[in-house]
Amino acid sequence: MPFPTQRLRRLRATESLRGLVRETHLHPGQFILPLFVCPGEGVRREIGSMPGNYQMSIDEIVKECAEVEALGISGVILFGLPESKDEMASGAYDDHGIVQRAIRAIRAETSRLLIVTDVCNCEYTSHGHCGFIKDGDVDNDTTLQWLAKSALSHARAGAHIVAPSDMMDGRVWAIRQALDANGYEKIPILSYAAKFASVFYGPFREAAESAPQFGDRRSYQMDPANGREAMREIELDLQEGADMIMVKPAMPYLDLICQARQRFDVPIAAYQVSGEYSMIMAAVRNGWLDHDRAMMESLTSITRAGAGIILTYFAKSAARLLA
Ligand code: PBG
Repeated sequence: MPFPTQRLRRLRATESLRGLVRETHLHPGQFILPLFVCPGEGVRREIGSMPGNYQMSIDEIVKECAEVEALGISGVILFGLPESKDEMASGAYDDHGIVQRAIRAIRAETSRLLIVTDVCNCEYTSHGHCGFIKDGDVDNDTTLQWLAKSALSHARAGAHIVAPSDMMDGRVWAIRQALDANGYEKIPILSYAAKFASVFYGPFREAAESAPQFGDRRSYQMDPANGREAMREIELDLQEGADMIMVKPAMPYLDLICQARQRFDVPIAAYQVSGEYSMIMAAVRNGWLDHDRAMMESLTSITRAGAGIILTYFAKSAARLLA
């Protein structure tokens, strides 16, 4: 018997009732905060398009990580701005590279915080592409060797999880082989499995100084129009040995987070990327949106869609609000 017997507004009448029947809850433990490590000392340079986020030198990153850990956030994901870039992305797999040094420094000052590393080459190549350029395109199989070396050097430095974001075919397999052959069979792989060639990475490329110097990333990152192909990407990465998978960006791809949740019984992460953050912050700065409500609604939607883990630039603000 529908109306007037059934009245869904009954359970919305007070915050106590709403709290009782709430289906989705956020907690700081589901967040991973992206951080940008740069050379120098005492450097804390705000990223123009991402208010509240900074390029930080290793000493500053260590302080930041202590704070992140105290807020109950599970982990950080590190992106490096190397001293110099070259055609071979040498800085990506150098045992004394910027990220490798940052990992060691953070490990020395934290106990519970998970250090995740982004395994990719675009921040380290002079041309800004994610791998070795051959005939004007990124050569897949040469790039796999760089990625395997990078992941291994991160593990050696003490990373807890490696997260390849390059979208080369076979990278999860290549990384798993390299880790296992060197005694790192316990290091999990969080694969950026369904990563789209998205305009929403714009502010990140300013933050990480990694914009491609020619062309774009459409020959390796996915076409935003393709949902079925995203499921194939996830399936293949799981077959190659991924322990967890990611959908990226998050809000424009909630349908795919939801489909992945229904199809694959593995932990699913979503990356609320730089452009998603910047859009909200720009509206907030104009007085058009309320910061806390926009932040929490976006994170709740991503969680409701099925992501148990969220990489987000809001991690600290959200954790503070949830405390
Ligand atoms: C590296 C990488 C990118 C992001 C995460 N890892 C940039 C890109 O693919 O161009 C984007 C993250 C963000 O926008 O917040 N390949």
